[in-house]
Amino acid sequence: NNDATEAGDQEDVKIIAHRGASGHAPESTTYAIDQAIEMNADWIELDIQITEDGHLVAFHDDEISRTSDGEGEIGDYTLAELQELDSGSWFNEEYPDKADAAFAGAEILTLEEIFDTYGSEVNYYIETKSTYLNEDMEEPMVEMVENFGYEENVIIQSFHQDSLETISELNDELTLVQLLWWEVDEETGELNEWLDITPAPNDMTDEDFETIGDYADGLGMHLDYYDGTEVIDEAFVQTMRDHDFMVHVYTINDEEDMERLIDWGVTGLFTDFPDRLDNVLQNL
Ligand code: G3P
Ligand code: CA
Repeated sequence: NNDATEAGDQEDVKIIAHRGASGHAPESTTYAIDQAIEMNADWIELDIQITEDGHLVAFHDDEISRTSDGEGEIGDYTLAELQELDSGSWFNEEYPDKADAAFAGAEILTLEEIFDTYGSEVNYYIETKSTYLNEDMEEPMVEMVENFGYEENVIIQSFHQDSLETISELNDELTLVQLLWWEVDEETGELNEWLDITPAPNDMTDEDFETIGDYADGLGMHLDYYDGTEVIDEAFVQTMRDHDFMVHVYTINDEEDMERLIDWGVTGLFTDFPDRLDNVLQNL
């Protein structure tokens, strides 16, 4: 019932700002979220993990040193300890041409303060991340969405089928997206599934799609592998659409790829540069 499920026409392709406008500002911070909203993002994508003392926070990596001045695993820190960290200066060092003194000292955010700050005008595309480390985050996450009354403002995504099935059992009205990832076998060049969810795209059967369709409304997958090998094609996008799934591809920053995927029939794209995708969509 979420308006994302009605996507389909090219002009209705959704802009999903990956960790906020993370190509312009430090990922998952207020700066990246603010810019994503200014850039017409339909959805703010955020990875959610759980702190040592049980708070849900927006942070991508399991290990905190790439995007903060701390080190170690995020789940070993309390929220108060994480809030002492500087989650913005790394960006200024990594991207001096985009540096902004204001980014220094940016704080790691809780999901609750993000909901509180940005309210119901914004849509949140939140991921249950690394559930083998972040145990039992589904119940507090669903409870928070329900307490805020944000059922229509939220998509919950995960690579972990059991996490989505748990959420579906807690609240079957929520919009869920199953994330997929394939690896290229170096010896055979064939695609292998990652985790336990799906065979390679061309081997997926109607039964596989029905299994996922029992709990999820959409599929999210990558376009290519690290070496550039493309793992999906137009026919696979059409097959997913024929099974009535939203089709959201991550993480697309190149304008030609955006145009090509839109032409294939995707219903949304994750991008670090929501302004680029907005521009592409406006010029279709
Ligand atoms: O959630 C879609 C995409 O973000 C998955 O990859 O590693 O950036 O969370 P990752
Ligand atoms: Ca993600």
